Amino acid sequence: MMQRRLQGRRVVVGISGGIAAYKAIEVVRLLTEAGAEVQVMMTPEATRFVAPLTLEALSYHPVAADWLAPQGAGESHITLAEWADLIAIVPATANSLAKFALGLADEIVSGTVLASRAPLLVAPAMNDLMYTHVKTQDHLKALRARHAAVVEPGTGRLASGKSGVGRLATPERIVAAIEAVLQDRRNLEGLRVVVSAGGTREPVDPVRYVGNFSSGKMGRALAETAAARGADVTLVTTVPTNPEGINEVAVTSATEMLAALKTACSGADILVMAAAVADYAPDKVAAAKLRRTDQPMDLHLRPNVDVLKSLGPHRGLFRVGFAAETEDLRAQAQQKLAEKQLDLMVANQIGVDGQGLASDFNAVTIVSPSGVVAEVPRLPKWEVAGQIWDAIDAVRNRGG
Ligand SMILES: Cc1cc2nc3c(=O)[nH]c(=O)nc-3n(C[C@H](O)[C@H](O)[C@H](O)COP(=O)(O)O)c2cc1C
Repeated sequence: MMQRRLQGRRVVVGISGGIAAYKAIEVVRLLTEAGAEVQVMMTPEATRFVAPLTLEALSYHPVAADWLAPQGAGESHITLAEWADLIAIVPATANSLAKFALGLADEIVSGTVLASRAPLLVAPAMNDLMYTHVKTQDHLKALRARHAAVVEPGTGRLASGKSGVGRLATPERIVAAIEAVLQDRRNLEGLRVVVSAGGTREPVDPVRYVGNFSSGKMGRALAETAAARGADVTLVTTVPTNPEGINEVAVTSATEMLAALKTACSGADILVMAAAVADYAPDKVAAAKLRRTDQPMDLHLRPNVDVLKSLGPHRGLFRVGFAAETEDLRAQAQQKLAEKQLDLMVANQIGVDGQGLASDFNAVTIVSPSGVVAEVPRLPKWEVAGQIWDAIDAVRNRGG
């Protein structure tokens, strides 16, 4: 799945001494699988949590854990610092974060960080009280101000047994953020992004609905990619999956989706509407379950709320719409873009086997008011999502 997307890139993974150190093993494995060359360094404390041997075997390099060891010629931190295209600290303990923020260098990991000018990425993991402590937050703020990428921890069961914020981000999320930094695409840092996803369900009676085949996968891929590129993301979806690192709001009907989007969009920078909102909804919702009879049944439908239109131009909000069309893709996209006064329109041809609604693949045409921005061929949805964010970035930066 990862392909060899990090082929030839040199990543130094620094492991500090927290319970989550064992999860760094999976990060190293995913990085090498993606083609990266990986060297591991460990704090002395970290070597008490996981054995360097495992990491040597997975990284195909000796592990640098003791900078006073004779074989490093006393220069192992400088060699690593110069070799790295990126340094990723997984997990980053409260103690190590404090040292990086202050510029301390009393073992190989902090020494290498101080000696390197390569981009730094930290994935904090600790007890919730340590994480939310004002000192830890100050140190993270100082690191962000120096352009370090912070992969926010998740919320869930902690090593102490209680639930809270401080769980190490999933290995996939860490690797996606490493990839974004290495591709120089951490460009949504500091932006608030709202994405809608999934098909709306318009109730007929308490057990039935009118809906469509949208799976919510395109919207989820867009939300996850935006998060990997540093955005603060809210995903309003009819297909909730509780993804880590994203604020998810679960909705059912178009009316609910509109209300949730209105709330989420206050103060947001970019809205991407990938949801398939039903154009029609049952005129009346039966209070009790409709009984089966032998007679045909007429369902009277009324035009539904127009979510795109209701979230009309909004100062400071870059609005991206999606159009699923079976014919005349480009003309339809251009017309909708103008009608709804959008900044960008992503049109996908449906009715083609193996792409679009409910598929893991998509092919899209991206249109701005000044014409076609990109034609994306049939690719996995997460790759299409990357190209859509590239187009959003290009159009936002050239201002229209
Ligand atoms: C069993 C155990 C688990 C620990 N887990 C964490 C942790 O998850 N996160 C953290 O920031 N510190 C944790 N600590 C504290 C660090 O190990 C301690 O601050 C240490 O000095 C970190 O050193 P390092 O940052 O050089 O690796 C833990 C300590 C122990 C004894």
